[in-house]
Amino acid sequence: MLHHLKEIDHGTPKRESTVELTLEIDGQAVTVPKGTSLMRAAVDAGIQVPKLCATDSLEPFGSCRLCLVEIEGRKGFPASCTTPAEPGMKVRTQTPKLQELRKGVMELYISDHPLDCLTCSANGNCELQDMAGVTGLREVRYGFDGANHLKSNKDESNPYFTYDPSKCIVCNRCVRACEETQGTFALTISGRGFESRVSPGQDEPFMQSECVSCGACVEACPTATLQEKSVIWLGQGEHSVTTTCAYCGVGCGFKAEMKGSEVVRMVPWKDGKANEGHSCVKGRFAWGYATHKDRMLKPMIRAKITDPWREVSWDEAINHAASEFRRIQAKYGRDSIGGITSSRCTNEETYLVQKLVRAAFGNNNVDTCARVCHSPTGYGLKQTLGESAGTQTFKSVEQADVIVVIGANPTDGHPVFASRMKKRLRQGAKLIIIDPRRIDLVRSPHVQADHHLALRPGTNVAMITALAHVIVTEGLVKEDFVAERCEAKSFAEWREFVARPSNSPEAMQLITGVPAAEVRAAARLYATAGNGAIYYGLGVTEHSQGSTMVMGIANLAMATGNVGRQGVGVNPLRGQNNVQGACDMGSFPHELPGYRHVSDATARATFEAAWGVDIDPEPGLRIPNMFDAAHSGSFMGLYCEGEDIVQSDPNTQHVAASLMAMECIVVQDLFLNETAKYAHVFLPGSSFLEKDGTFTNAERRISRVRKVMPPAAGLADWEVTVKLSNALGYPMHYTHPEQIMAEIASLTPTFTGVSYAKIDELGSIQWPCNEQAPEGTPTMHIDQFVRGKGKFIITQYVPSDEKVTRRFPLILTTGRILSQYNVGAQTRRTENNQWHSEDRLEIHPHDAEERGIAQDDWVGIQSRAGETVLRATVTDRMQPGVVYTTFHFPESGANVITTDNSDWATNCPEYKVTAVQVLKVMQPSAWQQEYSRFNRIQHELLDAAAEASPTSTAS
Ligand code: SF4
Ligand code: SF4
Ligand code: SF4
Ligand code: FES
Repeated sequence: MLHHLKEIDHGTPKRESTVELTLEIDGQAVTVPKGTSLMRAAVDAGIQVPKLCATDSLEPFGSCRLCLVEIEGRKGFPASCTTPAEPGMKVRTQTPKLQELRKGVMELYISDHPLDCLTCSANGNCELQDMAGVTGLREVRYGFDGANHLKSNKDESNPYFTYDPSKCIVCNRCVRACEETQGTFALTISGRGFESRVSPGQDEPFMQSECVSCGACVEACPTATLQEKSVIWLGQGEHSVTTTCAYCGVGCGFKAEMKGSEVVRMVPWKDGKANEGHSCVKGRFAWGYATHKDRMLKPMIRAKITDPWREVSWDEAINHAASEFRRIQAKYGRDSIGGITSSRCTNEETYLVQKLVRAAFGNNNVDTCARVCHSPTGYGLKQTLGESAGTQTFKSVEQADVIVVIGANPTDGHPVFASRMKKRLRQGAKLIIIDPRRIDLVRSPHVQADHHLALRPGTNVAMITALAHVIVTEGLVKEDFVAERCEAKSFAEWREFVARPSNSPEAMQLITGVPAAEVRAAARLYATAGNGAIYYGLGVTEHSQGSTMVMGIANLAMATGNVGRQGVGVNPLRGQNNVQGACDMGSFPHELPGYRHVSDATARATFEAAWGVDIDPEPGLRIPNMFDAAHSGSFMGLYCEGEDIVQSDPNTQHVAASLMAMECIVVQDLFLNETAKYAHVFLPGSSFLEKDGTFTNAERRISRVRKVMPPAAGLADWEVTVKLSNALGYPMHYTHPEQIMAEIASLTPTFTGVSYAKIDELGSIQWPCNEQAPEGTPTMHIDQFVRGKGKFIITQYVPSDEKVTRRFPLILTTGRILSQYNVGAQTRRTENNQWHSEDRLEIHPHDAEERGIAQDDWVGIQSRAGETVLRATVTDRMQPGVVYTTFHFPESGANVITTDNSDWATNCPEYKVTAVQVLKVMQPSAWQQEYSRFNRIQHELLDAAAEASPTSTAS
C-alpha cells in the first residue's frame, strides 16, 4: 500500500444525516448530507476553495477569510467553511471580486511572514505557500520593515517538534486540535490583535506546559510553525506506507512517511478506524528505537551464561538451538521444552510459534504474556458471554451516555481512546471511575467524574457485587432483556446471591472503604442513564480474583441490558498492541487457535490433518508452571520470542533462578533485554517497521503491519521461526506472512473470511469475519450471546492472601505512564525519557510524613518477595495506605517486590496488590546492587563478542 503524501482535505468534518440536499457550485450540482459546509460540498464537487484556518479534522472557525464565496441572491461574501449548504443554493467560488479579496488577505499574511520558502522545512508541504500560489499573489505592497514577528524566538523544548512563532499565521488550528482532538486544552492564543500568538499554558515552553506531545497541533498546523524535528533534519518524505502502531492495544493506523527506507515521520491515518487520524506521543514520535545503536544484529551463542557471547551465522545459531532442544528432549523427555510468544509480535509470528511448539516440540508448552495481563478477560468473558473478547468498536463510545472506567488509566495507557472518550464526556456523557488512585480522568479540563469510587486495592469483587446489589434490590434490572437473552436459572441464583444483605454497599463499605451512598448513586446512574459502557484494564484482571471480577462486570452489563448494541458493552482495554491477537492465535497451553481446547478431539483433528502431526490432548505448562518445573529439573529448554519475562513477570528473583536452572534458553529480541542476559542463544528480532503481518487490537480489529524497511539483521521474526522449525525436522514452507494468514483463516472459524486482500479493501476487519459476517463484526452479541443465553456467575468476594500487617502495612499497586511503554525496551531508547527517566514511588503525604519521607527521597520498598529502592513522589492522588509505582526500568526492580499470588482461574499474577513497608534509605537494595553487577558482567560478555568480530554491529 504505497501512497502519495498529500491527501484531500475536505476542509470541514463529515456530517451524518439522513436528510440529503442538492445545491449547485460553480455550475455543478452536488448532493450532500444536511449540515455539510459549502467548502466540503465544493470538494465533493471536485472544487477546492482556498482556505487556511479550516481542515477536515476540526470544526470550522471562520477566521482567515480566504474561503469566501458568493451565493446567488445573498449579499456579501460568506466564508464557505462556516456556511452550511442549503437546498437549491447557487454558489460561486471563483470570481474576480473573490480573487481580489483573497489576494488582499494573503498579502497581509505574507507581509508578516519570513520569505525563506526555499530553505523552510515545510517547503512543498505548506498550505500558506500553496495559497499564495492559488490566489495568484505576485507582490506584497506592505513593507517587511514595519512591525512583524520575524525575529521571534523558537521554542525547541519539545524533543520531537519545534515551535517557530515567526511563521505563525494565528489560524487557531493548533488550539482547536489540542481541544477537540486531543482534549488537553494546553494551547491558547495569547495577546490581542497584532500581538496575538499561540502560547502553551501560561506563556511557558511546551515542555513545561500541560502538553502531552500527542502532535495533533503539529499535524494541524498549515505552516512550518509547528514542525516535526525529524522533518527539519531529513526533509519531506517522498512516499508513505500504511501500517499499525506497535505499542498499545488501541492499534492506531499510521502512514509512515518515508524517504527510501528511512522514516521521516509517522502521520496518524485519517481512515484508521481505531484512531481516526489521532495518535499519542509513542506512536507518532517514539519510533527511533528501531534504528537505535543498541539493536542486536548478529545471532550469538554461548554454552553457559558466564561465557562470553560468540557471534555466529544465522544457520549456526539456529542449528545449535535445534540440536540443544532435541538433546534436552532426549535426556529429559518430550515435555522438557517449551515456547513463549509475545503480544508484541504479529498474529502470523505468534501463530507460527505455537505451531512450532505443538508440531515440532510435540507438546503444548506454549504461553504468552497475555498470561500476565488479560488472561482473566479471556476466561471471564467466555464463561458469561461466550467469546473471549471485547464487545464493541472504540467508535461506540460516541453513543455512550454513562461511561464506567474500572482499573484503567486511559489517558496514560490508551491515550487515543481516552481522547475519544473525553470528547464524548465533554458532550455530556456521565463518568464513573472505580480506581484506588485519582487518575487524571477524575478531573481534567472540561471533564469531571460524577463518581470516583476510590476503593482499596484488591476489593474489586466486593465493589462489583455491591453495585449489583443496588441494581437488583432497587428494581433496576432490565427484566425483559434478561428474560429474553439470559439463562433463567443462573440469573435467579445470582439475583438471590447479590441481594443478600451481606453484599449491600453498607456491608461492603468496610471492605472497599467507599461510602455506601456513593456506591448506590453510581449504581443508579449506570443502570438508568441510557447507554452504559464499561471499560476496564489491568486493575481488574491482575488480581487473585481477576477472572471473578471480569465475570462480575459481565453480570452487571447483562442485568442492565447493556450489551449487544452501540454505546454499551464490556470493553477490556488491552495492554499490548497484539494481546488480543496473541490469545486468538492459540498461544495458550490449553487452547488451539480460535479458543478451542486441546482436549476437543474435533478441533485437534482439524489441526492434525492440516499439520500432519499428532497433537497432545493434555494442556501444557503455563509460564509460572514452566518456572516451577525448571526448579524441579523437568523443564530445561525455552524458546522466548519478543518477551522479557525477567522484567515483566512477578517475583523477579524466582524467575531468574528458574532461568538459571535451564540448559538452553533461546531469546529472539531487538535488544539484549533482561531475559537475554540468561540466554544461551540470541536470535536478533525485527521491529514492526521491518516486516509484514497483522495486529489485532482491543476491538478485535485486524490491521496490517507493512514492511517499510528491510529487516536490520536480515530476517524477519517469522522467517526465524520457520528456519528453527525446519532445523528441528518439521518443515515449514511459507515465503510470505500472507500465506500464514491464509492457513489461520482456513483453520479458524472466526477468521474464515480474513485475508490480506480483504484487509487492503476494507482497511481493517473486526473478527468474527466469515460467511455470516463477510465484512467483520463491529458489535458482538447483537441478537443473542455467542454462547446462546448469557450466563450469570456468582461473584463471592474472597480477600487476597496478600494482607497488610504491622510488618507490611501499605499496599503497593502498579501501573504505567503515558511516555513509557511496558518494560520500556523501546521507549527507553527514545527521547520519551525526557518525560519519565525513572520509576518513582507515589505515596500519600500522611504516609510519607509518618516515615519522615520528603519529595525525591530514596525509599526502600520491602515485601515478602523482595526489596527495592526508588525515589518518592509525595502526592495526594494516592489514598493513605496505598503506594504506587510504574515498572518501565529494569533497575527499578518493581517486580522484585511483587509476589507469586495469582488469579485462581488463569494464574494471571496479582500485580496490583502487594503488602509492603516503605522506609527512607540511603543506598540501593541488595537486589539492585547484585543487578548492577550482573548487568555489567553481561555487557562485558557481549562486548567480548563484538571485539572478536570486526564486522559486528552489536554494541
Ligand atoms: S502536542 Fe498535543 S497536547 Fe501538546 S499542545 Fe499539541 S495538541 Fe496539545
Ligand atoms: S501555530 Fe500553526 S496552527 Fe497554530 S495558529 Fe500558528 S499557524 Fe496556526
Ligand atoms: S494510543 Fe496506542 S496505538 Fe495509538 S499511537 Fe498511542 S501507543 Fe500507538
Ligand atoms: S478557511 Fe474559512 S475562514 Fe479560514
